[in-house]
Amino acid sequence: MSTPPTPLQGSPVGIDFGGSGIKCAPVDLANGEPGERARVETPKPSTPPAIAETVVALLRRFPEADGPVGVTVPGVVRHGVVRSAANIDRSWIGTDADVLFSEATGRQVHVVNDADAAGLAEVEYGAARGRRGLVIVTTLGTGIGSALVHDGVLIPNSELGHLEIDGHNAEKRAANSARKAEDLSMRSWAHRLQRYYSTLEKLFSPDLFVVGGGISKRADEFLPLLDLETEIVPATLRNEAGIVGAALLASRG
Ligand code: BGC
Repeated sequence: MSTPPTPLQGSPVGIDFGGSGIKCAPVDLANGEPGERARVETPKPSTPPAIAETVVALLRRFPEADGPVGVTVPGVVRHGVVRSAANIDRSWIGTDADVLFSEATGRQVHVVNDADAAGLAEVEYGAARGRRGLVIVTTLGTGIGSALVHDGVLIPNSELGHLEIDGHNAEKRAANSARKAEDLSMRSWAHRLQRYYSTLEKLFSPDLFVVGGGISKRADEFLPLLDLETEIVPATLRNEAGIVGAALLASRG
């Protein structure tokens, strides 16, 4: 008689590489729930070899979760190759991250833009579940990430955080990092968000905006200050969305 599999056997794993921390957890794709989570500080500088070493160490904490591995990167990712690095070490540009992580871990690793992962997770399991039409998921953090999802299909690398608005790179004015750095009141920050979301609204006429990133847990302090035609709601997976979306995309291959 064979031993019954442990609950984690074959589980996909999601890893979220962010500016301050790197988080890792096995994910149950039946309900989009991450299991127990491990987190370490992001190495400084956040070079590809340093992150690869961290990813190997994190995966060792979940030896039973031997399914596909998804890793988010805060930059453009095309066919596994990182193409931009607004808030990470510049040496990422041109790095084939699928190859780097797969060789380092000896496993099949699939790399994806962080906001795309979070966006897909919100559509599959979170605030935009079951919604048709165009959903724009934005993450307000160090930068502004964006995911365009139409009828459940992700259009990757939209990079709407870098729209030029009033002569500024939008994320430099409206990301949560700008609110903190300039010590803005919620009301002043909401003015900037108003400008940002009304520009997106004019360009895309979406059916729904979802607002993610750590600050979304305080959504009741700024979303009611916005005046938009489009419905705008906080993300529900919060800080887990990247992990969940990365595992989901990795399992789709
Ligand atoms: C990057 C995006 C990323 C976002 C959130 C931006 O600066 O260009 O690729 O999704 O920050 O991390």
